[in-house]
Amino acid sequence: MLHTPICDLLGIQAPIIQAAIAPYTSAELVAAVVGAGGFGSIGTAMRSADEVKAEIARTKEMTDRPFAVNFTMTSFSQELWDYVLEARPAAISLALGDPGDLVQQAHDAGARVIQQVHTVEQGRQAVGRGVDAIIAQGTEAGGFGGVIATMTLVPQVVDAVAPIPVLAAGGIADGRGLAAALTLGAQGVNVGTRFLATTEAPINDHWKQMIVDAKSEDAVKVEFLDSVFPKPEGMFETSPRSLRTTFIDEWNTRRDDAVYASEHLRALIVTSLERNHAEDMVPFGGQSAGLIHEILPAAEVVRRMVADAELALDRAGSMRSSTEGTIA
Ligand SMILES: Cc1cc2nc3c(=O)[nH]c(=O)nc-3n(C[C@H](O)[C@H](O)[C@H](O)COP(=O)(O)O)c2cc1C
Repeated sequence: MLHTPICDLLGIQAPIIQAAIAPYTSAELVAAVVGAGGFGSIGTAMRSADEVKAEIARTKEMTDRPFAVNFTMTSFSQELWDYVLEARPAAISLALGDPGDLVQQAHDAGARVIQQVHTVEQGRQAVGRGVDAIIAQGTEAGGFGGVIATMTLVPQVVDAVAPIPVLAAGGIADGRGLAAALTLGAQGVNVGTRFLATTEAPINDHWKQMIVDAKSEDAVKVEFLDSVFPKPEGMFETSPRSLRTTFIDEWNTRRDDAVYASEHLRALIVTSLERNHAEDMVPFGGQSAGLIHEILPAAEVVRRMVADAELALDRAGSMRSSTEGTIA
């Protein structure tokens, strides 16, 4: 089985993290992933404290393997943070802003800290804060992201933050993506969209089918969302990527109007989330949707990713020996 040093750091067998896809993480999804040897994440964004507390308790009932709890700096809850530190997860992952002294607080509570970044500079800053691992997330990713592609970002972050381990994210949905990430110098992958299209993901079947049917070009940046949900000062420069809907197509071309209609648009989006029908409005999803052709159990995603990465790495190795001596 593929095994990299970050597996030992996190106490897992396979270097695959089921990303925080808050609020669409669940105890069932995390338990399936960790049961197959990967690492699971529970997201806190867009959820009530009670909901997250119940999810952590259920996850602990379903598995005694390690998992992460994720916080975004844009919707940070102090109450939940204090609770999570007491719950002592194996790791805390942080995203969308400078983690500041949260890193030290997490360490004091015995948790590893993984920080998501979108630029080399953010990676350097996170290392300065003392994080244990970095997620370098390329623009292909579903959810909030920057503008640099995974292929370009990962090796630069690997060089800038060495020897801190890096996980690649954005556009990775199969074993070839995992193999590519490892050859770029990452020690594993953080995967979101692929795990949304699993049996255990708590989204409705229509959204899962949208992912299966989508081409990569259907995963578009939602340029007007900042007008609807303004980010607090000082956050990383990001915008969300979502599968296209008629709602997004309309408001992406009416960004000035979206400022004036922001209250109305916010109500529409929040209602769609509350009804578990995000796919009507803004169903976050990445370009890797073009690589996803069926809804699978999450454990099967982990198994196939590992097996196919090993094949891809073998294939790459055999190319090297078969071309030896052929270049003049
Ligand atoms: C529906 C959805 C929700 C997300 N929510 C979060 C979140 O709450 N916190 C976070 O750090 N990242 C979030 N992300 C980003 C993922 O953690 C991950 O970095 C990304 O999905 C990786 O790219 P991929 O979608 O190409 O696999 C979200 C992504 C998706 C698709």
